[in-house]
Amino acid sequence: MARGSAPGKVILLGEHAVVYGRPALAVPVRQVRAEAEVRPGDSNRPADVRVHAPEAGVDAWLSDMADADPLGRILRLTLAELQVDEPPALEVEIRSTIPIAGGLGSGAAVSVAIIRALAEFFHRPIALDRQSALAYEVERLHHGNPSGIDNTVVVYDQPVYFRRGEGPRPFRPVQPFHLVIGDSGIASPTAQAVALVAQQREARPDEVDSIFDRIASLVVRARAMFEGVFEFDLGTLMNQNHELLRMLRVSTAELDRLAAAARRGGALGAKLSGAGLGGNVIALVPASAAPAVAAAMTEAGARRTIVTEVAG
Ligand code: PMV
Repeated sequence: MARGSAPGKVILLGEHAVVYGRPALAVPVRQVRAEAEVRPGDSNRPADVRVHAPEAGVDAWLSDMADADPLGRILRLTLAELQVDEPPALEVEIRSTIPIAGGLGSGAAVSVAIIRALAEFFHRPIALDRQSALAYEVERLHHGNPSGIDNTVVVYDQPVYFRRGEGPRPFRPVQPFHLVIGDSGIASPTAQAVALVAQQREARPDEVDSIFDRIASLVVRARAMFEGVFEFDLGTLMNQNHELLRMLRVSTAELDRLAAAARRGGALGAKLSGAGLGGNVIALVPASAAPAVAAAMTEAGARRTIVTEVAG
């Protein structure tokens, strides 16, 4: 039997603009994980893989899965990467504590957990950059034009400064900090949010590009802060990023309410994280204020809160 796992993630600053070549910062969320287990399967059905993913309601044979199915896609891509042409009968079980469609990287984490479990099962390690490239192929099913930030942070399991087309740049903040993540309970349709931003860019390119540039400057300032170069206030950068995301129309009344409640409850700053239109709000908190901020977000409608420390 072999196992693989991968963490969730949040985007600290820079979502959407990152699709258009601007930099972004993302961090792993290790309190939630996707796990995959691979074991020898039913020998009555050789060369096929039984896939069981209870949280996603999946119990199927790989041979019956369409290639547009994210689980089917990653299993086939990984078996090809491992040069397993005729797989023995296998069973793959996937479990995840990462909310689905919440902007916490559930899809990427499931892909990476499967890659790692299969590599382990066949005793053939797959390098991190290849893991990321394989998971990226699956991200493309979710929306046609992914930046690659989700697969990158989930694979490297470290805070990353990410820019499309460049190698990942993991970083270690000089000082650890705490985030409270509040789940709106509303599914975040990444493809729809990305399409909405694309439409706006087509309708008013100068305005939208200047919003992207302003987001990029927040990211650059935050990175300088993490390197201890300047004293910037990360909370303020997050609040400003939320306003810019509102201008891109990917926030909602629920997300604005969660962010406002977090700030009133003692957060230093708050913003939606991920594609928006639903999903999560993240709040920067002094560690001692985490319970009060989590309670304020719950009071404002959060279905679930997670407190996470961002270190190296
Ligand atoms: O899938 P989510 O909610 O983590 O959003 C991904 C971030 C976007 O910038 C909106 C899309 C992308 O591909 O980077």
